[in-house]
Amino acid sequence: MLSILAIAAVAGSVRAAPWTNEHGLIERDQTSASSWSNQWQPDANGVVHYGFNATFNQGYWNASQIRTAYRGCNGMSVSWSTNGRNVVPTVLYGTSNSSLNWTATSSVSITYETSLKWENHVVLENLEPNTKYYYSVCGSPVNSFTTARCAGDMTPYTAAVVVDMGAMGEYGLRHNLPSDISNPIPANQTNTIQRLVAQMDDYEFVVHPGDMAYADYWVKEQVTHGSNLTLTDQVLGYNAINDAFFNEVAEVASKKAYMVGVGNHEANCINGGYKQYPEAICTAGLTNFTEYKVRWNMPGDGSASNNFWYSFDVGMAHYLIFDTETDLPPPYYGADVIGGVAGMYESNVGAYPTAQVDFIKQDLASVNRTQTPWVIAMGHRPWYVSAAPEDRFMSGLAVFEPLFEAANVDVVMQGHVHLISRSYPVHQNGTVQQYNYTEPQAPVYLVNGAAGHYDGLDKEYTPLYDYIAFANDTMYSYSKLTFHNSTHLTHQFMASGDNSVIDAITIEKTH
Ligand SMILES: *[C@@H]1O[C@H](CO)[C@@H](O)[C@H](O)[C@H]1NC(C)=O
Ligand SMILES: *[C@@H]1O[C@H](CO)[C@@H](O)[C@H](O)[C@H]1NC(C)=O
Ligand SMILES: *[C@@H]1O[C@H](CO)[C@@H](O)[C@H](O)[C@H]1NC(C)=O
Ligand SMILES: *[C@@H]1O[C@H](CO)[C@@H](O)[C@H](O)[C@H]1NC(C)=O
Ligand SMILES: *[C@@H]1O[C@H](CO)[C@@H](O)[C@H](O)[C@H]1NC(C)=O
Ligand SMILES: *[C@@H]1O[C@H](CO)[C@@H](O)[C@H](O)[C@H]1NC(C)=O
Ligand SMILES: *[C@@H]1O[C@H](CO)[C@@H](O)[C@H](O)[C@H]1NC(C)=O
Ligand SMILES: *[C@@H]1O[C@H](CO)[C@@H](O)[C@H](O)[C@H]1NC(C)=O
Ligand SMILES: *[C@@H]1O[C@H](CO)[C@@H](O)[C@H](O)[C@H]1NC(C)=O
Ligand SMILES: *[C@@H]1O[C@H](CO)[C@@H](O)[C@H](O)[C@H]1NC(C)=O
Ligand SMILES: *[C@@H]1O[C@H](CO)[C@@H](O)[C@H](O)[C@H]1NC(C)=O
Ligand SMILES: *[C@@H]1O[C@H](CO)[C@@H](O)[C@H](O)[C@H]1NC(C)=O
Ligand SMILES: [Fe+2]
Repeated sequence: MLSILAIAAVAGSVRAAPWTNEHGLIERDQTSASSWSNQWQPDANGVVHYGFNATFNQGYWNASQIRTAYRGCNGMSVSWSTNGRNVVPTVLYGTSNSSLNWTATSSVSITYETSLKWENHVVLENLEPNTKYYYSVCGSPVNSFTTARCAGDMTPYTAAVVVDMGAMGEYGLRHNLPSDISNPIPANQTNTIQRLVAQMDDYEFVVHPGDMAYADYWVKEQVTHGSNLTLTDQVLGYNAINDAFFNEVAEVASKKAYMVGVGNHEANCINGGYKQYPEAICTAGLTNFTEYKVRWNMPGDGSASNNFWYSFDVGMAHYLIFDTETDLPPPYYGADVIGGVAGMYESNVGAYPTAQVDFIKQDLASVNRTQTPWVIAMGHRPWYVSAAPEDRFMSGLAVFEPLFEAANVDVVMQGHVHLISRSYPVHQNGTVQQYNYTEPQAPVYLVNGAAGHYDGLDKEYTPLYDYIAFANDTMYSYSKLTFHNSTHLTHQFMASGDNSVIDAITIEKTH
C-alpha cells in the first residue's frame, strides 16, 4: 500500500516518524502480526482483545474515526485514527461476525505537524464483490462493510451525496446560533449526519465532494461566535472540530464506503483568512490540504494527487471525482492556489500542470458505456448554480465543461454554495440544451451544498438564471441518486429534517 507513503514523502509538512506528539512517541510493542492474530478473536460482546500488554497502550492506539472506501469491487480501504503510531496497522476481517479469520496489514501510520492523531491506512484485497465483511481494527468492536458492485452489475441501487457538511453540535451546526446566521437548524430537527445514520438502509455508499469538517472555522465560528476556543488554541480548536466531525461521520463511514473530494475548507487553518487574521497565522501542518492528504485514502495509482482526482465504478455507474481547488491547467488556476479566486496560497498537487485534465480525458475516454452507461462527475465548486455571477466558478466552466460534454457525462454534482439547485441540461457557457430531462444531450448540474454547517444556508440568487430549473435555500438536505437501469436515473433532494423529498427528477436517456 504505497499511496499514503508516497503522499507523506511529497508533502513537506508531513513528518516522518519518529515524532513525539503530546503523548510521546508510542509504538506498538510487536513481533509479527501473524503471531497475534489467533488471540484477536472478538468476545461475546464483539470486543477484540489484544495479545499483548494492552494496559500500556490503551488510549494511545485504540481506533477511532474509522472510515472505509471502495477499492475496486474486490477491495476496500480501511482507515482510522489513533493517538499514537502503529508500526503495523492491522485489520482483522472475515465473512462471519464471530470469526475474523483473515488479517490485512500495512506500514502506513502517519501524521502531520500539530495533529493530535495518527492516521492508519490498510487496503483489503481479493474480496468478493457486493459482499458483507466483518472487521475490527485495534480492538474496535466488530464492524461490517459491503464491497462495491462491479461495473456491469445492472442491479438498481442508490447512492447518497452530501457536500459542505461540517460538524454538528457544540462545534458546528446547532439550533442556538447567533442571530446573524441564516436558517439555524430548528431545535430537535434531525441534522444531515443523523439522517444519514438513520437511513443507512436506503443507500449503498456516500460521496462527499468537499468541505468536510470546517475545522478551519475555529476562528470564525468558534471565536467570533462565542465558543470557548480562543486564538491561542489554534491547534486545539482545529483538532477539536475535526474530532467532532470525524467521530460523527464514522457512524456512517465505518459501515459504508465514504468517497471524498476536496473543498476549500480542507485547504488551511482559516479558509484563506478571516477579518484581521491572514492565512499566515496558520501553524505548520495547517496549510496545503495537509490534513486532507493524510487522513484519506482514495483509490488511485499511489500518487500525491490521489485524494484530489480519481474515478471508481459501482454497478451501472462510473464516478469521476474532479478537483476545482488546485491543478487547473494554465492559464487557469485552481481556486485555492496562488493566483486562484479564493485568495489562498496553497500549492498544486499534480506531478505537472496538466496532470488533472490529462487524467480526466484519459479516464472518460476509457469508460465502457455498455458496462457503466451512467457517468457522474463530482467536484466541489459549481458554475451552474443559483448564485451571484461572481460566485460561479468560471475557470471550472472553461476547463471542465468541454471535457464533460465531449464525453457525454450525464450528471455533474457540486456544492460549495449552501443551497440546493438543479439545472436543465446545459452547455456552452450557459446555453440551455433543452427544457426537459428526456434524452438530454448535455449534462444536468445538481448542486447540493445544504448538508449544513455552522454558517447556515446561503441565499439563492434571483431571478433564476434561464438554466436553473429549481432552487431552494431554506432546507438542509442530502441527495440520493437512484440508478434504475441503463435508461432511467432519479435524483432526489432529500430534506434532512424529515426525510421528505424536496425535489425529484428522473433523467431518461438511451446510452
Ligand atoms: C503493562 O505495562 C505497564 C506499563 O509499562 C506496566 O506497568 C505493567 O506492569 C504491564 N503489565 C503486564 C501484565 O505486563
Ligand atoms: C481502548 O479500548 C479498550 C477495549 O475496547 C477499552 O476498554 C478502553 O477503554 C479504550 N481506551 C480508551 C482510552 O478509549
Ligand atoms: C474461520 O476459521 C475457523 C477455524 O479454522 C473455521 O472453522 C471457520 O469455518 C472459518 N470461518 C470462515 C467464515 O471462514
Ligand atoms: C457482532 O456480534 C456482536 C455480538 O453479538 C454484536 O454486538 C455486534 O453488533 C455484531 N456486529 C456486527 C457488525 O454485526
Ligand atoms: C427538544 O427535545 C427535548 C428533549 O426531548 C425537549 O425537552 C424539548 O422540549 C424539545 N424542544 C423543542 C423545541 O421541541
Ligand atoms: C471547551 O468546552 C468543552 C465542553 O465544555 C470542553 O470539552 C473543552 O475542553 C473546552 N475547550 C477548551 C479549549 O477549553
Ligand atoms: C505549500 O507547499 C509549497 C510546496 O511545498 C510551499 O512552497 C508553500 O509555502 C506551502 N504553502 C503554505 C501556505 O504553506
Ligand atoms: C464493453 O463491455 C462489454 C460488456 O462487458 C463488452 O462486451 C465489450 O467488449 C466492452 N468493450 C470494450 C471496448 O472493451
Ligand atoms: C462565459 O461567459 C461569460 C459571460 O459572458 C464570460 O465572461 C466567460 O469568459 C465565458 N466563458 C467561457 C469559457 O467561454
Ligand atoms: C424535450 O425537449 C426537446 C427539445 O425542445 C423536444 O424535442 C422534446 O419533444 C421534449 N421532450 C419531452 C418529453 O417533452
Ligand atoms: C423550500 O422548500 C420548502 C419545502 O418544500 C418550502 O416550504 C419553502 O417554501 C421553499 N423555499 C423556497 C425559497 O423555495
Ligand atoms: C427502467 O426503469 C424505469 C424506472 O423504473 C422503468 O420505467 C423502465 O421500464 C425500465 N426500463 C427497462 C428497459 O427495464
Ligand atoms: Fe466550499
